[in-house]
Amino acid sequence: MTKRAAIRIAAAGDVHCSEENRAAVAEAFADIAGRVDAILLAGDLTTFGEPEQAEVLADACRGLEIPVVTVLGNHDWHADRAREIQDVLAAAGIFVLDRSWTVLDCGATQLGVVGTKGFVGGFPDSTLTDFGEPILRAVYAETTDEVEALARGLEAVADCPVRVVLLHYAPTSSTIVGEPPGIWAFLGSDRLGRPIADHAPDLVLHGHGHAGTYEGFIGAVPVFNVSLPVMGRDFAVFELSDGTVHDVSLEPHGGETQRRKEVH
Ligand SMILES: [Fe+2]
Ligand SMILES: [Fe+2]
Repeated sequence: MTKRAAIRIAAAGDVHCSEENRAAVAEAFADIAGRVDAILLAGDLTTFGEPEQAEVLADACRGLEIPVVTVLGNHDWHADRAREIQDVLAAAGIFVLDRSWTVLDCGATQLGVVGTKGFVGGFPDSTLTDFGEPILRAVYAETTDEVEALARGLEAVADCPVRVVLLHYAPTSSTIVGEPPGIWAFLGSDRLGRPIADHAPDLVLHGHGHAGTYEGFIGAVPVFNVSLPVMGRDFAVFELSDGTVHDVSLEPHGGETQRRKEVH
Protein backbone atom coordinates (compact mmCIF):
# COMPACT_ATOMS: atom_id res chain seq x y z
CA MET A 1 0.00 0.00 0.00
CA THR A 2 1.24 3.49 -0.81
CA LYS A 3 2.15 5.49 2.28
CA ARG A 4 0.12 8.67 2.58
CA ALA A 5 1.42 12.10 3.49
CA ALA A 6 1.28 13.10 7.14
CA ILE A 7 -0.94 15.89 8.43
CA ARG A 8 -0.13 17.82 11.59
CA ILE A 9 -3.09 19.13 13.58
CA ALA A 10 -3.09 21.41 16.61
CA ALA A 11 -6.12 21.02 18.85
CA ALA A 12 -7.55 22.80 21.86
CA GLY A 13 -10.87 23.17 23.59
CA ASP A 14 -12.28 25.52 26.21
CA VAL A 15 -10.08 28.45 25.27
CA HIS A 16 -12.79 30.66 26.88
CA CYS A 17 -11.62 33.91 25.30
CA SER A 18 -12.20 37.29 26.91
CA GLU A 19 -10.31 40.55 27.11
CA GLU A 20 -8.44 39.11 30.12
CA ASN A 21 -6.63 36.46 28.05
CA ARG A 22 -6.37 38.39 24.76
CA ALA A 23 -2.54 38.61 24.79
CA ALA A 24 -2.04 34.98 25.80
CA VAL A 25 -4.45 33.72 23.12
CA ALA A 26 -2.80 35.81 20.41
CA GLU A 27 0.64 34.59 21.40
CA ALA A 28 -0.41 30.93 21.54
CA PHE A 29 -2.03 30.96 18.09
CA ALA A 30 0.84 32.85 16.47
CA ASP A 31 3.30 30.39 17.99
CA ILE A 32 1.55 27.20 16.85
CA ALA A 33 0.57 28.37 13.35
CA GLY A 34 3.98 27.79 11.80
CA ARG A 35 4.25 24.23 13.08
CA VAL A 36 1.00 22.60 11.94
CA ASP A 37 -1.23 22.22 8.88
CA ALA A 38 -4.49 23.12 10.64
CA ILE A 39 -5.89 24.19 14.00
CA LEU A 40 -9.01 22.48 15.36
CA LEU A 41 -10.96 24.02 18.26
CA ALA A 42 -13.39 21.98 20.34
CA GLY A 43 -15.79 24.71 21.46
CA ASP A 44 -16.26 26.98 24.48
CA LEU A 45 -14.39 29.63 22.57
CA THR A 46 -15.79 32.37 24.80
CA THR A 47 -16.39 32.87 28.50
CA PHE A 48 -20.05 33.90 28.39
CA GLY A 49 -21.02 33.77 24.73
CA GLU A 50 -20.60 37.46 23.94
CA PRO A 51 -19.61 38.31 20.35
CA GLU A 52 -16.98 40.70 21.72
CA GLN A 53 -15.29 37.70 23.34
CA ALA A 54 -15.35 35.88 20.01
CA GLU A 55 -13.56 38.89 18.54
CA VAL A 56 -10.57 38.00 20.73
CA LEU A 57 -10.29 34.65 18.98
CA ALA A 58 -11.06 36.17 15.60
CA ASP A 59 -8.23 38.68 16.05
CA ALA A 60 -5.83 35.86 16.98
CA CYS A 61 -6.72 33.85 13.87
CA ARG A 62 -7.16 36.59 11.29
CA GLY A 63 -4.26 36.46 8.91
CA LEU A 64 -3.02 32.99 9.85
CA GLU A 65 -1.96 31.07 6.77
CA ILE A 66 -3.42 27.77 7.93
CA PRO A 67 -7.09 26.81 8.29
CA VAL A 68 -8.79 27.11 11.67
CA VAL A 69 -11.84 24.90 12.17
CA THR A 70 -14.13 25.05 15.18
CA VAL A 71 -17.38 23.99 16.73
CA LEU A 72 -19.22 26.02 19.34
CA GLY A 73 -19.65 24.97 22.96
CA ASN A 74 -22.37 25.55 25.55
CA HIS A 75 -20.66 28.74 26.78
CA ASP A 76 -20.85 30.14 23.27
CA TRP A 77 -24.64 29.76 23.45
CA HIS A 78 -25.02 31.30 26.92
CA ALA A 79 -26.01 34.81 25.73
CA ASP A 80 -28.19 33.33 22.97
CA ARG A 81 -26.03 35.16 20.41
CA ALA A 82 -24.47 32.10 18.79
CA ARG A 83 -25.32 33.24 15.28
CA GLU A 84 -23.51 36.52 15.87
CA ILE A 85 -20.52 34.61 17.20
CA GLN A 86 -20.49 32.44 14.09
CA ASP A 87 -20.52 35.57 11.94
CA VAL A 88 -17.60 37.12 13.87
CA LEU A 89 -15.55 33.96 13.45
CA ALA A 90 -16.45 33.44 9.80
CA ALA A 91 -15.44 37.03 9.01
CA ALA A 92 -11.96 36.17 10.30
CA GLY A 93 -11.78 33.14 8.01
CA ILE A 94 -12.54 30.53 10.68
CA PHE A 95 -14.59 27.51 9.56
CA VAL A 96 -17.45 27.07 12.03
CA LEU A 97 -18.92 23.58 11.81
CA ASP A 98 -22.44 23.03 13.10
CA ARG A 99 -23.90 19.67 12.15
CA SER A 100 -21.68 19.90 9.08
CA TRP A 101 -18.29 18.99 7.66
CA THR A 102 -15.46 20.40 5.59
CA VAL A 103 -12.63 18.95 3.54
CA LEU A 104 -9.27 20.75 3.72
CA ASP A 105 -6.40 20.37 1.28
CA CYS A 106 -3.31 19.73 3.39
CA GLY A 107 -0.29 19.43 1.15
CA ALA A 108 -0.52 16.20 -0.80
CA THR A 109 -3.52 14.88 1.06
CA GLN A 110 -6.94 15.87 2.33
CA LEU A 111 -8.35 16.23 5.82
CA GLY A 112 -12.06 15.70 6.33
CA VAL A 113 -13.41 17.29 9.52
CA VAL A 114 -16.90 16.44 10.74
CA GLY A 115 -18.00 18.90 13.39
CA THR A 116 -20.88 19.57 15.68
CA LYS A 117 -21.34 20.70 19.27
CA GLY A 118 -22.89 17.49 20.52
CA PHE A 119 -25.17 17.52 23.55
CA VAL A 120 -26.06 15.83 26.82
CA GLY A 121 -27.63 12.49 27.67
CA GLY A 122 -25.20 10.49 29.74
CA PHE A 123 -23.50 7.15 29.63
CA PRO A 124 -24.39 3.60 30.66
CA ASP A 125 -26.00 3.58 34.14
CA SER A 126 -27.01 7.26 33.84
CA THR A 127 -28.65 7.68 30.46
CA LEU A 128 -31.50 10.00 29.62
CA THR A 129 -34.27 8.09 27.86
CA ASP A 130 -36.87 9.21 25.35
CA PHE A 131 -39.72 9.16 27.87
CA GLY A 132 -41.94 11.47 29.86
CA GLU A 133 -42.44 15.21 29.74
CA PRO A 134 -42.19 16.87 26.32
CA ILE A 135 -39.43 19.21 27.49
CA LEU A 136 -37.29 16.26 28.55
CA ARG A 137 -38.04 14.41 25.34
CA ALA A 138 -36.98 17.57 23.45
CA VAL A 139 -33.56 17.32 25.12
CA TYR A 140 -33.33 13.70 23.96
CA ALA A 141 -34.39 14.74 20.45
CA GLU A 142 -31.74 17.47 20.34
CA THR A 143 -29.05 14.86 20.96
CA THR A 144 -30.65 12.63 18.33
CA ASP A 145 -30.28 15.46 15.79
CA GLU A 146 -26.61 15.82 16.71
CA VAL A 147 -26.01 12.08 16.36
CA GLU A 148 -27.71 11.95 12.98
CA ALA A 149 -25.70 14.95 11.75
CA LEU A 150 -22.52 13.22 12.85
CA ALA A 151 -23.47 10.11 10.88
CA ARG A 152 -24.27 12.17 7.77
CA GLY A 153 -20.96 14.00 8.01
CA LEU A 154 -18.97 10.81 8.40
CA GLU A 155 -20.69 9.35 5.36
CA ALA A 156 -19.86 12.51 3.39
CA VAL A 157 -16.11 12.36 4.16
CA ALA A 158 -15.84 8.57 3.93
CA ASP A 159 -13.37 8.80 1.05
CA CYS A 160 -11.06 11.35 2.69
CA PRO A 161 -7.58 9.95 3.43
CA VAL A 162 -7.72 11.43 6.94
CA ARG A 163 -10.94 11.91 8.92
CA VAL A 164 -11.37 13.73 12.22
CA VAL A 165 -14.49 14.25 14.34
CA LEU A 166 -14.65 17.53 16.25
CA LEU A 167 -17.11 17.89 19.15
CA HIS A 168 -17.57 19.92 22.30
CA TYR A 169 -19.46 17.35 24.36
CA ALA A 170 -17.88 13.97 25.12
CA PRO A 171 -18.88 10.94 23.04
CA THR A 172 -17.39 8.50 25.55
CA SER A 173 -17.07 8.33 29.31
CA SER A 174 -13.42 7.30 28.98
CA THR A 175 -12.36 10.95 28.64
CA ILE A 176 -14.47 12.38 31.45
CA VAL A 177 -13.10 10.16 34.19
CA GLY A 178 -12.08 12.59 36.91
CA GLU A 179 -15.29 14.60 36.70
CA PRO A 180 -17.89 13.96 39.43
CA PRO A 181 -20.05 11.03 38.25
CA GLY A 182 -23.14 13.01 39.25
CA ILE A 183 -22.65 15.41 36.32
CA TRP A 184 -21.57 12.93 33.63
CA ALA A 185 -25.03 13.07 32.02
CA PHE A 186 -24.38 16.78 31.33
CA LEU A 187 -20.92 16.24 29.89
CA GLY A 188 -21.91 14.21 26.85
CA SER A 189 -23.63 11.12 25.58
CA ASP A 190 -22.47 7.71 24.45
CA ARG A 191 -25.08 8.04 21.69
CA LEU A 192 -22.60 10.40 19.99
CA GLY A 193 -20.15 7.52 19.96
CA ARG A 194 -22.32 5.25 17.85
CA PRO A 195 -21.63 6.80 14.42
CA ILE A 196 -18.00 7.08 15.47
CA ALA A 197 -17.88 3.36 16.18
CA ASP A 198 -19.62 2.65 12.87
CA HIS A 199 -17.34 4.82 10.70
CA ALA A 200 -14.05 4.59 12.65
CA PRO A 201 -12.53 8.02 11.86
CA ASP A 202 -8.82 8.45 12.49
CA LEU A 203 -9.24 10.75 15.48
CA VAL A 204 -11.94 12.26 17.71
CA LEU A 205 -11.46 15.51 19.63
CA HIS A 206 -13.70 17.11 22.23
CA GLY A 207 -13.63 19.46 25.22
CA HIS A 208 -16.16 20.50 27.91
CA GLY A 209 -14.96 18.11 30.62
CA HIS A 210 -12.45 20.46 32.26
CA ALA A 211 -11.55 17.91 34.93
CA GLY A 212 -11.66 14.87 32.67
CA THR A 213 -9.04 12.59 31.14
CA TYR A 214 -6.85 13.40 28.13
CA GLU A 215 -6.80 10.06 26.33
CA GLY A 216 -9.71 7.75 25.74
CA PHE A 217 -11.20 5.57 23.05
CA ILE A 218 -14.27 4.34 21.26
CA GLY A 219 -13.36 0.83 20.21
CA ALA A 220 -10.08 1.25 18.30
CA VAL A 221 -10.69 4.97 17.63
CA PRO A 222 -8.51 7.32 19.70
CA VAL A 223 -10.46 10.06 21.49
CA PHE A 224 -8.76 13.03 23.13
CA ASN A 225 -10.28 15.50 25.57
CA VAL A 226 -8.29 18.57 24.52
CA SER A 227 -9.84 20.87 27.12
CA LEU A 228 -7.14 23.34 28.16
CA PRO A 229 -7.38 22.59 31.89
CA VAL A 230 -7.00 18.87 31.12
CA MET A 231 -3.96 19.38 28.87
CA GLY A 232 -2.19 22.02 30.92
CA ARG A 233 -0.80 23.48 27.70
CA ASP A 234 -2.08 25.65 24.86
CA PHE A 235 -2.41 22.93 22.21
CA ALA A 236 -2.15 19.22 21.61
CA VAL A 237 -0.39 18.38 18.36
CA PHE A 238 -1.22 15.21 16.46
CA GLU A 239 0.49 13.79 13.39
CA LEU A 240 -1.86 11.65 11.31
CA SER A 241 -0.43 9.39 8.67
CA ASP A 242 -1.28 6.08 7.11
CA GLY A 243 -3.84 5.10 9.71
CA THR A 244 -1.79 6.14 12.72
CA VAL A 245 -2.25 8.96 15.19
CA HIS A 246 0.97 10.15 16.76
CA ASP A 247 0.66 12.52 19.69
CA VAL A 248 3.72 14.65 19.05
CA SER A 249 2.71 17.27 21.61
CA LEU A 250 4.16 15.01 24.25
CA GLU A 251 7.59 15.10 22.67
CA PRO A 252 10.42 15.67 23.43
CA HIS A 253 9.86 14.62 27.02
CA GLY A 254 9.96 10.91 26.27
CA GLY A 255 6.27 10.38 26.91
CA GLU A 256 5.11 10.12 23.35
CA THR A 257 2.29 7.78 22.51
CA GLN A 258 1.47 6.11 19.25
CA ARG A 259 -1.80 4.50 18.36
CA ARG A 260 -2.32 2.24 15.41
CA LYS A 261 -5.54 0.98 13.99
CA GLU A 262 -6.68 -0.66 10.82
CA VAL A 263 -6.64 1.57 7.79
CA HIS A 264 -10.07 2.11 6.29
FE1 LIG B 1 -15.56 24.93 28.97
FE1 LIG C 1 -18.52 23.42 27.84
